[in-house]
Amino acid sequence: MHKVSVIGAGNVGATAAYYLVAKNFAEVVMMDVVQGMPQGKALDFLHASPSRGYDVKIIGTNDYAAIADSDVVVHTAGIVRKPGMDRMDLLRTNVGIAKIAAGNIVKYAPKAVVIVVSNPLEVIAMVMARATGFPRERVVGMAGILDSTRFCFFVAEKLGVLPSDVSALVLGGHGDSMVPASKYTTVAGFPLEELLSDEEIKQLCDRTRKGGAEIINYLKTGSAFYAPAASAAEMVEAVLKDKKRVAPVSALLQGEYGYRDLYLGVPVLLGAGGVEQIYELPLSEDETAALDKSVEAGKKGLADLAEIEAS
Ligand code: NAI
Ligand code: 2OP
Repeated sequence: MHKVSVIGAGNVGATAAYYLVAKNFAEVVMMDVVQGMPQGKALDFLHASPSRGYDVKIIGTNDYAAIADSDVVVHTAGIVRKPGMDRMDLLRTNVGIAKIAAGNIVKYAPKAVVIVVSNPLEVIAMVMARATGFPRERVVGMAGILDSTRFCFFVAEKLGVLPSDVSALVLGGHGDSMVPASKYTTVAGFPLEELLSDEEIKQLCDRTRKGGAEIINYLKTGSAFYAPAASAAEMVEAVLKDKKRVAPVSALLQGEYGYRDLYLGVPVLLGAGGVEQIYELPLSEDETAALDKSVEAGKKGLADLAEIEAS
């Protein structure tokens, strides 16, 4: 039986764990620092098993030892900004949490593929890659699938078609400068650019870029978690079932698209080895310029990380 561990049993972590439990193909461990919370959620999942029909092993724990021999570890741990905390304090704390998680992954699950969800995504993914020392294939960030499904939904809503008939691609960093690639977006094979005007596509791209913020504005005290958890669970399934899925993820680039030593959302082949291949799509001048802008935003995050590590 495959084993997946989710670090951080908050909104995204517990929801991803539940989606995975419901699929009934892997043992699921939820680990969190809050005493009793992951245990309570695991028991709640178990109580639902007679109704939902799953029978996999489910563990909630405060002890990293329980992640031993996981095939996949999903990192969703972190804290949200508290009063009096500045941006750098928040980053320092979440980097520290990721480093502790990394040390325990190396100790207990040294062969795992690590899927990073915690924000700021590209920075935390880099911390996880450096602190585990795992090859880049085995440390991958979740964002592109989420941003692409948001784009799919907005396109489907606009056209009045089934969202799963839309295939969309969003490249770049997980932030305001992400790059929805309309050229690579189709509806049952029809190019989006033949179905909507430039202005209509631009509006959908803008809404996609602000997709996370739109939900934060509604929720007030937290951010989206159902769709993020669904995207993370899809990635776990692609790895555990060696699906050879082609999807956008945040991958460590070493020369691809002309960038090096940074995480960026690009299409990859996801399978048992993690990121088994990175695809380099031909991009227009506009798309290349937009991707450059997204990389510049990502480099600011890495500069903040360097500042924290030097202090
Ligand atoms: P949340 O606050 O509900 O959950 C975070 C959990 O981490 C909490 O339960 C907390 O107790 C736990 N935690 C804190 N320190 C820990 C430690 N040292 N070890 C283990 N667990 C620890 O937050 P939520 O909504 O689940 O989001 C989690 C992260 O995912 C955030 O950083 C959020 O910004 C990010 N996110 C990223 C997305 C993406 O597309 N990459 C999409 C949505 C959220
Ligand atoms: C999202 O995109 C906040 O990263 C989070 O919903």
